[in-house]
Amino acid sequence: MYTIDQNSKTPLHIQLYEALKNDIVQNLKVGEKLPSIRKLSSTYNLSKNTVESAFRQLYVEGFIESYPKSGYFVSDTNFKDFRTSHANKEAIETTQKSYKYDFFPARLPKDSFPLKLWKRIYTKVIDETLDLGGYPDGQGEYILREQIAEYLNNSRGANCIADQIIVTSGFGESMGLLAKMLKSTHDTFAMEDPGYHIVNQVFSAYGYEIEKIGVDENGLMIDALQKSKAKLVYITPSHQYPKGVSMPIANRLKLLEWAKDTDALILEDDYDGELTYYNRPIPSLQGLDKNDKVVYFGTFSKYLSPALRVSYMVVPQHLLGLYKTHFDSHFCKVSLDTQITLAHFMKEGHFDKHIRKIRTLHKKKHELLKKLLEEHLGETMKIEAQGAGLAIIITPAVAFDWEKFKILAEQEGIKLYFAKGVSGGSWEALRLGFGGFSEKELYEAVEILSKLWRKALLN
Ligand SMILES: Cc1ncc(COP(=O)(O)O)c(C=O)c1O
Repeated sequence: MYTIDQNSKTPLHIQLYEALKNDIVQNLKVGEKLPSIRKLSSTYNLSKNTVESAFRQLYVEGFIESYPKSGYFVSDTNFKDFRTSHANKEAIETTQKSYKYDFFPARLPKDSFPLKLWKRIYTKVIDETLDLGGYPDGQGEYILREQIAEYLNNSRGANCIADQIIVTSGFGESMGLLAKMLKSTHDTFAMEDPGYHIVNQVFSAYGYEIEKIGVDENGLMIDALQKSKAKLVYITPSHQYPKGVSMPIANRLKLLEWAKDTDALILEDDYDGELTYYNRPIPSLQGLDKNDKVVYFGTFSKYLSPALRVSYMVVPQHLLGLYKTHFDSHFCKVSLDTQITLAHFMKEGHFDKHIRKIRTLHKKKHELLKKLLEEHLGETMKIEAQGAGLAIIITPAVAFDWEKFKILAEQEGIKLYFAKGVSGGSWEALRLGFGGFSEKELYEAVEILSKLWRKALLN
């Protein structure tokens, strides 16, 4: 029996359609005959029209077939191969674990987002300027691209114009666009080792052969690159990911020289170059390049919000034609209202102020985390990277059981992040993000962490 509620807000024909559909999916066999229209209308006290309408919908969706004078029969839907949405939901819910403390290295404090200002600008933008009747600019709104170019030239020592900027909804998208564009001219791709896993994933997926180039205290080892056959290299020169070193000027010039001599392209990822706490941010490599050999990647994720999903790349003028032929029908995935609000946010000078504000905020937390680690872990750890970005990276300075440490952290509800997990290779280190913690939480989290750390020390 089906439950049909005459007082429900859901129309009767939809209730009957849902009940029959469930029955077909869960109980009935292919070819089985459904009750007749007359029978269903008398059993459930429904009009003939109501039952016919439910049958019509099932027929249109392919759940039933109709044979003249014989009635309606269950079609072969192959439904057993699909899960119902309910089953999926349960599966997702059970795999999500909640943690007491999460050291995620790429998050910002929720309350650091300038919500009031954003709302004010958003309201103004949506009332007066926004054209929701047209298709947006595929490359990103021009007004936003102008602001990004101005910001990069003034703050990151870059040398670009709005026409060179392509707005994307994240670094992965930028990399994907580029990997696709360059596939017909390049087959080998070099990247730092250890390096950013997303880059490896994207370029491997496009079928490139990946050459991993080691990293020392000066960043990517240029001698090793020179020996490789790659003419395309990805680097993080201002703040190497994940080792945290920066490439000195002599090496930057050598790398540019290599690109010029071999007609190669350098992909510069400047994901958090503004977040330096003891020195001025190091200007971009793109600004030093006189031969159009650098593609620059930037993001708003580390300074404003990773949730807005706004990133961009700056391509040399000679690649713009290629971009246009490949992505004639490509549309920027960042919503128009977000792009325009961000453009005005920048134009009114708030972005520059905001960066200064969050740099001070992060510096305080960075110093606190460093002090706590030194107090609690002392001689048992080595700080590998500090003074920039959103995380401090440490390794044990004594014999250490990584596996035990990882298990203990999971048991205690402390979410940790490890270098190997995001960059492969053999280098293991603990990446301790401080962005998401309040000062009080940092004290508590480091205290628990250090107890687990001590338990994992060997000897
Ligand atoms: C090395 C590196 N590059 C780029 C990004 C930027 O990613 P997105 O713009 O997709 O947020 C990140 C974010 O964590 C990163 O770690």
